[in-house]
Amino acid sequence: MKKILTGLKPTGELTLGNYIGAIKQMKQLQDQYDSYLFVADLHALTVPQNPSDLRRRIRDFLALYIACGIDPNKNLIYLQSENEFIPAISWLLECSTYYGEASRMIQFKEKSKQHSNFSVGLLTYPVLMAADILYADIDLVPVGIDQKQHVELARDIAIRFNKNYGDTFVIPEALISETGTKIKDLKDPTKKMSKSEENPNGVILMLDEENAIRKKIMGATTDSEMSVHFDEEKKPGISNLMNIYAALKEKTIDEIETEFQGENYGTFKKKVADAVVETLLPIQERYHELLHSNELDHILDQGIAKSRKIAKNKYQDMAKKMGLER
Ligand code: TYM
Repeated sequence: MKKILTGLKPTGELTLGNYIGAIKQMKQLQDQYDSYLFVADLHALTVPQNPSDLRRRIRDFLALYIACGIDPNKNLIYLQSENEFIPAISWLLECSTYYGEASRMIQFKEKSKQHSNFSVGLLTYPVLMAADILYADIDLVPVGIDQKQHVELARDIAIRFNKNYGDTFVIPEALISETGTKIKDLKDPTKKMSKSEENPNGVILMLDEENAIRKKIMGATTDSEMSVHFDEEKKPGISNLMNIYAALKEKTIDEIETEFQGENYGTFKKKVADAVVETLLPIQERYHELLHSNELDHILDQGIAKSRKIAKNKYQDMAKKMGLER
């Protein structure tokens, strides 16, 4: 059975963009693949974090994964920082990564511009992401398009390591879903819907209340044309709402255009809001049940035990091949 894996970084709150870009894909694929889903908490440390906020968000994320329908019997669900072999593997991989490669990453270039003093972790973070993937011999990595470049770096590092030290890693591939590859901000549909967005009305959080969800969608920026037609360049707002609707209702863009032919934007937005509410409310209910339960800890204990065992074997194999022996 082929293996898939993905992770989400607990910075800011989980959004509808994360759900459509990563979690929903994992849910659809969990029956066909051996699946791994983790909270990438070590990645959160690349920018300053308040420890108590981070602690709360980690548990929120884990509970939300399961509430979203990620089945613990079909997925290995774990917390990255509980697997100490992953940063150890990352160090070995860093020594097979060129500075030029890491500094060319778009996310590094963008984020390093935002801070006058940024951490070395911001530069080496894609190598840690490579370790997250490579330790478990993953075939496919379902991510949003913004992470594609990082998965490609993981491939390059794996190919180089295999060439220098002998066959060690499976070469992974990014899996980008056709619909909803990049859900945009509702107020500024040229930007991605992002957890750290300053304008809260442009972002739907997984734990938003029904009224807030409806208000945000009804207030989404559109154009003056009044036709539900897909054109990401000329009509980014409507196209974004169509992407959201397509992903949640599992419809094609053509089907949506036919469904809303002659309808005004108000009618369409209301349907999009209904679809989001129908998706999120049951998830929120299950999330509240799980948050303080033993069930959650039981799932995580099982997940991390397996993950550590796999990572330990990979670390030992790599270290030996690299000459790290008595
Ligand atoms: P992160 O936490 O920024 O995002 C988590 C996942 O959600 C996707 N995503 C989106 N997809 C569609 N529309 C959006 N608006 C949107 N916003 C976010 C992202 O593409 C991503 O798939 N470095 C990673 C976490 C990570 C990881 C890994 C992922 C660490 N190790 C190993 C895969 C494999 C990150 O920061 O994602």
